[in-house]
Amino acid sequence: MLMRAAVLVMLSLALMSCGKSHPATESRRSQHLGWVDAARLARTEAEPDEWVSPGRDAGGTYFSPLSQINEHSVEKLGFAWQYALGTSRGLEATPVVVDGVMFAVGNLGRVYALNAATGARIWTFVPTIDMQWARYACCDVVNRGIAVWKGRVYVGALDGYLYALDADTGASIWKTDTLIGREKHVPYTLTGAPVVTRDSVIIGNAGADYPGVRGYISAFDLDTGRLKWRFFTVPRNPALGVQDQPHLAAAVKSWDPQHRWEAGGGGAVWDGLTYDPKNDLVFLGTANVSPYNTREDGRKGGDELYACSVIAVHASNGALAWYYQEVPDDRWDFDSTQKFIMTTLTIDAVRRDVLMHAPKNGFFYVFDRATGEVLSAKNYVFVNWTQGLDPVTHKPRPNAAADYEKKPALVWPSAFGAHSWQPMSFDPQTGLVYIPATETSNVMIDLSARPLKTLDGWFTTEGIMADDYDPGHTARLYGTLPSLESLERQSPGPIKAQGVLKAWDPVRERVVWQVAGSTLWDGGVMSSGGNLVWRGDARGFMNVYAADSGRLIKSIDVGTSIMAAPITYRIKGEQVVAFMAGYGGGGGFSFDPQTAAYQYGNAGRIVALKLGGGSVPKPPLLAADPPFQQPSARPESRGPVSRGEILYKRTCSRCHVFGRGMLPDLRRMSSETRKIFYDIVLRGAYQPRGMGRFDDVLSQTDAEAIHAFLVEQEWKAFAGDTAEIMKTH
Ligand code: HEC
Repeated sequence: MLMRAAVLVMLSLALMSCGKSHPATESRRSQHLGWVDAARLARTEAEPDEWVSPGRDAGGTYFSPLSQINEHSVEKLGFAWQYALGTSRGLEATPVVVDGVMFAVGNLGRVYALNAATGARIWTFVPTIDMQWARYACCDVVNRGIAVWKGRVYVGALDGYLYALDADTGASIWKTDTLIGREKHVPYTLTGAPVVTRDSVIIGNAGADYPGVRGYISAFDLDTGRLKWRFFTVPRNPALGVQDQPHLAAAVKSWDPQHRWEAGGGGAVWDGLTYDPKNDLVFLGTANVSPYNTREDGRKGGDELYACSVIAVHASNGALAWYYQEVPDDRWDFDSTQKFIMTTLTIDAVRRDVLMHAPKNGFFYVFDRATGEVLSAKNYVFVNWTQGLDPVTHKPRPNAAADYEKKPALVWPSAFGAHSWQPMSFDPQTGLVYIPATETSNVMIDLSARPLKTLDGWFTTEGIMADDYDPGHTARLYGTLPSLESLERQSPGPIKAQGVLKAWDPVRERVVWQVAGSTLWDGGVMSSGGNLVWRGDARGFMNVYAADSGRLIKSIDVGTSIMAAPITYRIKGEQVVAFMAGYGGGGGFSFDPQTAAYQYGNAGRIVALKLGGGSVPKPPLLAADPPFQQPSARPESRGPVSRGEILYKRTCSRCHVFGRGMLPDLRRMSSETRKIFYDIVLRGAYQPRGMGRFDDVLSQTDAEAIHAFLVEQEWKAFAGDTAEIMKTH
């Protein structure tokens, strides 16, 4: 029923579309929702009203030429519609709009097909998920996008299954397992957007922070879901014999033979896949080495190919075409998985087909797409992990200031990254790339020789954001530590921690303008034809800047913190800007009291804006937290409390923070919850809610120690001491 109504809406919208299409494409378009093919994706400039892939076009520019909303008219921007997603977890994806239908993916891989004019639901797809995998997600149960292709929607679910859905109905046509080692619960997850090539759908996985994870991407047949090829990004354990793929025979020589091979090596591809039809190449970026403290146990490390690299593989067979390692010997968790943009630039009077990249390491790269030649490599934030790049080889020169082997070091940028998954945007009219950047440092401490080693994961290194660094508190866990001032004296840096939107000229290699964000963890970016740049923020505002100058023109309060990038499209003659609002992800488990997430309960939804709409209806304000009651139990003896603190920090605090956060504050458990505490923690009583069981890493005694620590914290809170425990990583 719903589907039929949708097709009717579709037909009339398709007729109104002003772009010209191939006749065969046109007839398929009128029969099926979500009809995007290679011809259509190659000519998005002919269809300005549409937003047909996560980055709108084949290049992933996050730019739309539409200009009904422009620097003059944007003053009248207001509410069009909203669609509640019924979640308070992180939302990172950009929707796709094809012929009047919006396809959006929320967290866990849930897909929503909506009428793009009204927000009315056409269908929803809710994958059945083994929620134990929610525990393996380092950075929230997010999803970063879908591929809409020839009447199908391709989407990855958190637990590693890739689905092909019928775009008309949302029914699953096929489902395939992208994970290796599922039976053994190797902690891979799937949070990235798939990309479609001539005949395959390609996807990578997340998990490089966990034991046993060895990065790879897989190509599946578009029609059947059958595996065609797999490309591993890092070598396997040499003890298993010769390497299983030719490019790895060269790579394994760059690894310390004493590497902890059982850790898997890392190099996961959790985002940033893109496809270049001209060269039939797939570009991917790889995550950190696992474990990334390569000096552990007296090892010497090495370049560790192909972690922290940009790699081009032939789409037909998965063979390596070229690579460039952005961070050899990564010891700082500098993933290179950030999204790419493909475009054409004139550099030294030559038109070049380029691939642009702004990874965590703080450098902006421009590569020749066919050959991998580095055309530009210049830092867009202050960095001290390298002294600079060799002008000929572009290999980074090490800097002793960032070596934390013997003593803690202050490292720029932080493990947070100078730029993470939040989309950047390229505006061909200004020639600028708008980067949602973060300028931060962190204190890195080698924990391999200290008592607090590794538990739920291989975070053998601690990176503490400079602002959170409190040597007095940390000393209880790690022993004596230097003051922040002395670290700053040793390696001075000019910058206070801030999120910042940067307009980068990729040809002249310089920042043209920049504006501070609201926090370190704001939204992705879009640019549009009316000289506008769009970026949402953690306070719950959608901000609009002049693309040429960075002047803030308009801010709209939507009452929900925003991380995802907006999109724009035109329907029935009206330009609409739409985005997912909902905080979370790697940087958003705890809510700053200044943020909408804190005040309005992180009510995840899709918000659409248009000219002439009124103000955006906000979710109801949350009531103030009730005061702490006197706990019924007494804290157990000091021994378990200290041990419990360490265990809590290593296994729980990455999700559960004290204060208002995305997940329950465990000092506020009800008496019913307290009764089943051990069932929840050790036996999976709340697994369907996303609280996985921990009995593989915690014993009953461990869980009791955590409980003792929580009771002690409850007493402290009751006594008015609300000092926060640091969040790990
Ligand atoms: C990967 C994220 C994650 C980690 C790590 C995690 N939890 Fe949870 N936890 C959850 C989720 C999700 C819920 C369910 C929230 C809900 O009901 O909506 C939850 C709920 C709980 C609850 C029930 C709270 C209540 O008031 O209803 C307890 C108790 C709990 N967790 C204990 C722990 C302990 C102890 C640890 C560390 C050993 C831990 N959790 C680690 C995600 C996590």
